[in-house]
Amino acid sequence: MNVLVTGGAGFIGSSYVRHRLDAHPDFSVRVLDKLTYAGRRENLEGLPAERCELVVADVADRDAVRAALEGCDALVNFAAETHVDRSITAPGEFIQTDVYGTYVLLEAARDAGVRHLQVSTDEVYGSIDEGSFTETSPLDPSSPYSASKAGGDLLVGAFRSTYDADALIVRASNNYGPRQYPEKLIPLCVLNALAGDPLPVYGDGKQVRNWLWVEDFASAIDAVLEFGEPGEVYNVGGPDELPNIEVIQRILELTGRDESLISYVDDRLGHDRRYSLSAAKTEGLGWEAAVRFEDGIERTVEWYRENEWWWKPIRGGEYREYYERQYGAGLLSDTSSASRPGVSG
Ligand code: NAD
Ligand code: DAU
Repeated sequence: MNVLVTGGAGFIGSSYVRHRLDAHPDFSVRVLDKLTYAGRRENLEGLPAERCELVVADVADRDAVRAALEGCDALVNFAAETHVDRSITAPGEFIQTDVYGTYVLLEAARDAGVRHLQVSTDEVYGSIDEGSFTETSPLDPSSPYSASKAGGDLLVGAFRSTYDADALIVRASNNYGPRQYPEKLIPLCVLNALAGDPLPVYGDGKQVRNWLWVEDFASAIDAVLEFGEPGEVYNVGGPDELPNIEVIQRILELTGRDESLISYVDDRLGHDRRYSLSAAKTEGLGWEAAVRFEDGIERTVEWYRENEWWWKPIRGGEYREYYERQYGAGLLSDTSSASRPGVSG
């Protein structure tokens, strides 16, 4: 299959594009991405141009989407506004992209007669104190982000029931690994620790997240794209659950810093306490997670250590202003000397 990957210049989308090109050498990928602050050309750097084309466009642009689908046998939709904290301060873009954009894509895929795989999140189920969510758990989203993702998921179900569209959903727990924008907990703390800046912990730091290595999610998506049934939902939970404070302590150890950098700050509004997702149904398709948190977090710290060219321009730009708005205090370290020959920020 030649695949249209919307949002393919982001963190998970670009990992999936790499996986797809490696695993299917006879086929190509077309990426459609608006290149928001989170979408970066350099995430696709080094990929073979003859098999990986980038179309810069908005998923809400009906004509651009239809043109990009030509010659494609399936669509995998990663495009979304994705950061919970930004959805709390400015929800509008989330509804536009995550709900309306999903509708535009569903309609285009239905009309082209191709499969639409919607990439969604465990956050649509809300928080769970004990046990794990399954695909039949009710939707109970807490944030404007998760409510927007739930809206997209409901449209997928409606397109299946109403038009018999070949649409299905994959819902993942927290991904981590290379190329994640540093607004998210792990890259934010890794970069702050490397720079000697404080690590902001929301509330008591005992919220639990279910960590999934991004390349494991990429292989799960391919399994669902190939073997998943139309109209079905497939949960992809990671193998390890940890309280945030333990994740942060591990990052401090790996970067050679001590706990004096930990800074407890005001809690996130509507903060979900715990996520946990059963991956049993997806494992039934022959997939399993290969990387445990213990190894993945070491690889992640190593990647950020070795790829300053990737993150230095980010820490010096829009991110710096966002950080100040979000945390009420600026990054302390100087990040002005960013760049690598031949790569623009
Ligand atoms: P990201 O923020 O790194 O990337 C999002 C990508 O979508 C960017 O390349 C951005 O430019 C693009 N985009 C945004 N709005 C667009 C628009 N209107 N038109 C075209 N492109 C647009 O996000 P991510 O972490 O890679 O997440 C990808 C998908 O996976 C999202 O749908 C997210 O909800 C879902 N998800 C993420 C996680 C996680 O832990 N990161 C877990 C479960 C599900
Ligand atoms: O669960 C899947 C979801 O994981 C995805 O759908 C989202 O797109 C993705 O952003 C992520 O959402 P979270 O809110 O779980 O991730 P985040 O990295 O923002 O936060 C992880 C935990 O760390 C959460 O409990 C909030 C906490 N946190 C986060 C930040 C940014 C802090 O304590 N301090 C921080 O500065």
